[in-house]
Amino acid sequence: MQFRTLARIDLNALTHNISVIAKLAPQSLLMAVVKANAYGHGLASITPALATADAAGVATLEEATTLRANGWQGRLVLLQGFANVAELDAAIELETEVVVHQHSQLELLATRRDSFKQRLWIKLETGMNRLGFPADQLNAILQQLQQYPLGLMTHFASADEPDNSSVLAQISRFEATVAGIDLPKTLANSAAILNYPQAHGDMVRCGLMLFGVSPLAQGCGANLGLRPVMRFSSRLLAVKACQAGDLVGYNGTYSCSENMPIGVVAIGYGDGYPYLASSHTGEKSAMLMLKGVKCPIVGRVSMDMLSIDLRPLQALGVQAESGDEVILWGPELPVENLACSIGSIPYELLCGLTGRVNYQYHEDGTS
Ligand SMILES: Cc1ncc(COP(=O)(O)O)c(C=O)c1O
Repeated sequence: MQFRTLARIDLNALTHNISVIAKLAPQSLLMAVVKANAYGHGLASITPALATADAAGVATLEEATTLRANGWQGRLVLLQGFANVAELDAAIELETEVVVHQHSQLELLATRRDSFKQRLWIKLETGMNRLGFPADQLNAILQQLQQYPLGLMTHFASADEPDNSSVLAQISRFEATVAGIDLPKTLANSAAILNYPQAHGDMVRCGLMLFGVSPLAQGCGANLGLRPVMRFSSRLLAVKACQAGDLVGYNGTYSCSENMPIGVVAIGYGDGYPYLASSHTGEKSAMLMLKGVKCPIVGRVSMDMLSIDLRPLQALGVQAESGDEVILWGPELPVENLACSIGSIPYELLCGLTGRVNYQYHEDGTS
């Protein structure tokens, strides 16, 4: 069957990326962060490919349930913790380790003193001002939680920027707070694995790089030895011979400067392709790829369709036909480039695929 839109997921690439990341942080355990449906890759189906990770990390109990239901028996960390006693009971049932970041959680834990057995990760506020206990409360919390296996954690705001003074300050604050405390520590996300090796700690928490995508502002996963896991594609619906002066798409925001072929592609924001990739005069256009040739988007992205300028293909004497495969992103067209050209981030693009997209999983190493 020929799908309208297809996300092909290369499970071998995921396994490869785990081994690359493990070599980048050889002294640390590797937590595979697979929240948000494994960054849009399909959590249930990728679960077996996580086998070489030392732990899995998720944001929600639903995600934890999916991992367990699909055979993940290893360490599992609930990164957002629990908000009420029902959630704590579910965490106990699923045998998840849990991040604690506020006092209400400690009070809830006290009601389940005998049944919670997994590690509690005490999250410390070191400068991001999102979740975490202030440093000066750590000793009292350690006292309160002494019956549990514990770990210490923080999260960086700007690890994608090398030598960033705020990250260096976060590292110093964390080190000063935990000095002399002999507990496992976890600080680093993907970007910190690359930029701050001094913060690898006992376990790194890696999300985006698992999927072969770079967390840095410049470059793409392939530059880091990673292999993109997702190849997102659609089909050409129609080829139109437009005349000079013809306006393309909603509100006629693109005017053909000459007689030119325009391709209509079966993808739009209803599938998760970003509206912000609509062409804006004078700005860098977002590109799609047809028969190995990059073609810019023209006019507005609509719900189910968008248009591309087929002149780059025409210049090579290559004919485009309806039904041709069009690559939206993947190994040959990094999602990082699209994110950069529209002022987004690859995280958002990957997580944004909607239920209308078909998924195929394969282990053959081809994309
Ligand atoms: C607490 C925490 N740790 C680790 C990660 C993984 O981050 P990344 O995908 O940049 O590796 C996230 C993701 O946002 C997170 O919230």
